Amino acid sequence: MPSTDVQPQVTLRTFGREDFERLISWVPTEADMIPWCGAFFGFPLDAAQLERYAQSAERPRSRVIFTAEFAGDPVGHVEISQIAPHLSSRLSRVLVAPEHRRRRVGSMMLAQAIDFTFDHYHVDRIDLGVWTANSSAMECYRKLGFAHVGTWPNAMVADAHTIDVYWMTLTRVGWRSARPYRCHLCSRSAAPRANLASTAE
Ligand SMILES: CC(C)(COP(=O)(O)OP(=O)(O)OC[C@H]1O[C@@H](n2cnc3c(N)ncnc32)[C@H](O)[C@@H]1OP(=O)(O)O)[C@@H](O)C(=O)NCCC(=O)NCCS
Repeated sequence: MPSTDVQPQVTLRTFGREDFERLISWVPTEADMIPWCGAFFGFPLDAAQLERYAQSAERPRSRVIFTAEFAGDPVGHVEISQIAPHLSSRLSRVLVAPEHRRRRVGSMMLAQAIDFTFDHYHVDRIDLGVWTANSSAMECYRKLGFAHVGTWPNAMVADAHTIDVYWMTLTRVGWRSARPYRCHLCSRSAAPRANLASTAE
């Protein structure tokens, strides 16, 4: 067979009830839950909470919830909310399956979610909030072009933690200027890092 430059990419599909059990398995402890969702869900995550969550996405223009797949395997979760008439959309509940982290899956999933948002909604901005203690997520967002716009100290309490929320924004213009990094994510040199069949790393 001739060689090809085309590499499998992360794709998004609608989150459904078939995803509940897997998503629950990705957040086995409270220490996993809090950086992911703050106090949005109570620990332990369960099907009843996810049922309400999935139903909330059925209201028009509320939120869209995605499962990310790589080569057909579910590898992540991401949500977009505050859909028009809001002037900005919100990215949240960003999660990569623990065994697939640090392989650029999160970056590729977010790139898909950002493209989807700018393509489908008339917003010029995408916002997100991240716990100030979550430096790896902040760095992941920064590399995609998100800029820090402010911090809310003591924004919420989750478990024993008082959480300061670090707000970041990506503009359409900022997303265009992140093009070299996006191309890098899709390049042949980046793709082997997302070879999920590989156990090396
Ligand atoms: C944050 C998260 C989504 C990142 O996904 P990922 O697939 O592991 O990240 P990527 O491989 O795309 O990393 C992109 C960049 O982020 C930074 N980064 C990601 N994980 C990191 C870590 N553990 N330590 C240091 N930097 C990290 C690096 O700068 C990395 O770039 P590099 O690969 O060139 O070094 C993932 O770690 C996760 O699901 N965390 C738990 C849930 C969570 O915290 N969600 C965020 C809610 S706001």
